[in-house]
Amino acid sequence: MATGGMEVARSVEALRRAVASWRARRERVGLVPTMGAIHDGHLGLVRAARAQAERVVASLFVNPKQFGPSEDFAAYPRDAASDLAAFETAGVDLVFMPPVEEMYPPGFVTNVHVGGISETLDGAVRPGHFDGVATIVSKLLLQCLPDAAYFGEKDYQQLLVVRRLARDLDIPVRIEGVATVRAGDGLALSSRNAYLSPAERQIAPLLYRVLSETSSLIAQHPDGLAGALERGIAALRAGGFAVEYLELRDAADLGPVDPAPGARLDGPARLLVAARLGRTRLIDNIPVPPPGG
Ligand code: PAF
Repeated sequence: MATGGMEVARSVEALRRAVASWRARRERVGLVPTMGAIHDGHLGLVRAARAQAERVVASLFVNPKQFGPSEDFAAYPRDAASDLAAFETAGVDLVFMPPVEEMYPPGFVTNVHVGGISETLDGAVRPGHFDGVATIVSKLLLQCLPDAAYFGEKDYQQLLVVRRLARDLDIPVRIEGVATVRAGDGLALSSRNAYLSPAERQIAPLLYRVLSETSSLIAQHPDGLAGALERGIAALRAGGFAVEYLELRDAADLGPVDPAPGARLDGPARLLVAARLGRTRLIDNIPVPPPGG
């Protein structure tokens, strides 16, 4: 099915047919996996794909396997018409929008589990979440076989999980991370921001402010990691957040960076946070360069 210049494929077969026709013309293909509720962060991924490939595929699939039983699968914002319009304006060539039975036909039992990196931070708080992500992303990469697939750094742990699975499973697709897009007040764009009440939306930018201040504190006093993290958590609590974690981790594999008093940072690190504001769970992260780096 085509809407204007943009095609919509609902089956793997139709997706593969379109990609094969582009490949026959030696056109490069970029894939932007999404769950819809498209905002400028997603469009940043489309722009990054456009810059590197002649053809851009966006997938739109709210993946039930990455939501826990008490999470927001049913409430997740869905507006296919406005998503398709946004993709078309951004210059997407094909939207892959499969029904659930196309991705998980009866009898589907395979689970992709990425050890280590998917078991910490969000993986610990949301058991099974990264298995759901790894399973669907493996399928999308293999169904489309693009030259590159684009993921936002906003979901930094997800980006590392996807890089690991593509490497471990020899999936011949480049995984590209794209910088987080933020509102003017610093809040990272996210489909879940739609859950925030007007009052919560006013408070939400505190998350990024605390990340930035904690990161500067660590840069100024690299031997005071534990104190900087405690201060950040206290500031978030004072602002009304229920903090799940605020942690400094190794940027490459999310391994621990020793926060003991007197410990020093010796390589690129990432400061990651997850916190709830009312019923909305927000995550964010920023890079923390090594001292002198
Ligand atoms: O980041 C998301 O929107 C989802 O986790 C993804 C990568 C599209 C897989 O469902």
